[in-house]
Amino acid sequence: MNNQTPTINIFEKAARKAGKNLIRDFGEIENLQIESKSIGDFVTNADLNAEKAIYETLKYYYPDTSYYMEEKGLIEGNKNEMIVIDPLDGTTNFIHGIPIFGVVIAKIVNNDVTDGIIFNPITNEFYWASKGMGAWCNNNRLRVSKRQNFIECVIGSGIPHHKRAYEGFLDEINQISKECSGLRRLGSAALDLAYVASGKLDAYWEKNLNLWDVAAGVLLVREAGGKITEPSGKIWSTKSKDILASNTNIHEKLQKLLEIKK
Ligand code: 2AM
Ligand code: CA
Repeated sequence: MNNQTPTINIFEKAARKAGKNLIRDFGEIENLQIESKSIGDFVTNADLNAEKAIYETLKYYYPDTSYYMEEKGLIEGNKNEMIVIDPLDGTTNFIHGIPIFGVVIAKIVNNDVTDGIIFNPITNEFYWASKGMGAWCNNNRLRVSKRQNFIECVIGSGIPHHKRAYEGFLDEINQISKECSGLRRLGSAALDLAYVASGKLDAYWEKNLNLWDVAAGVLLVREAGGKITEPSGKIWSTKSKDILASNTNIHEKLQKLLEIKK
């Protein structure tokens, strides 16, 4: 059964093209490490090539839309409609040969995420959601977990790179790790959110992210029955930098733990 919307079909075409490039380059990384060439430049090129493949595919179908891309930045078009692209989310994993990374594309209409995809080319997991159509991985409908008992929950996070976000992070870890089953730090915000939508993680929070990291995942979590806010409980918007995603059941508890300062 394939009930993908036309938008998702187009996003999939673009993401699979980029995915082919990324798989090839991921295979090359090991050789580069042996030869100890400059990995930084190589990965920047991998990123740029993947983004180019996505943008060139999408602009054929959506020539008038605005685009907001990690590498190329903002290309202004229609003010109400924007496609955000992260060609390689989980760059550090990619560099280290850890197969947790993905291509991320989302469509935002009037500040509302209407469609999103996250594609891990290594595992061939194609996560997608369209507003009102549910969240899916390949042909399987996704539901967030049902866990209510915090002590059974596995929670994802990211270690902030920015000073503002790092302050207080150790206190947050201290509060939460005592109360749950385990913490995970996967290194791809997009896949963390896809895992919340799939019920693999019961919740996830991270600070100082960009819109292209999270927009698709926000819709996946919502369409899978989960809840999205800022960690403070404030409504999440396309301008938010910080995010808290959960299966809904443990949202309030997690929010309270994040508020407690030592
Ligand atoms: P990236 O791999 O596309 O950079 C990891 O915690 C998450 O934070 C990833 O989604 C990563 O996206 C993002 N991120 C944002 N800024 C980053 C930075 N300066 N260094 C590493 N990861 C960053
Ligand atoms: Ca990213």
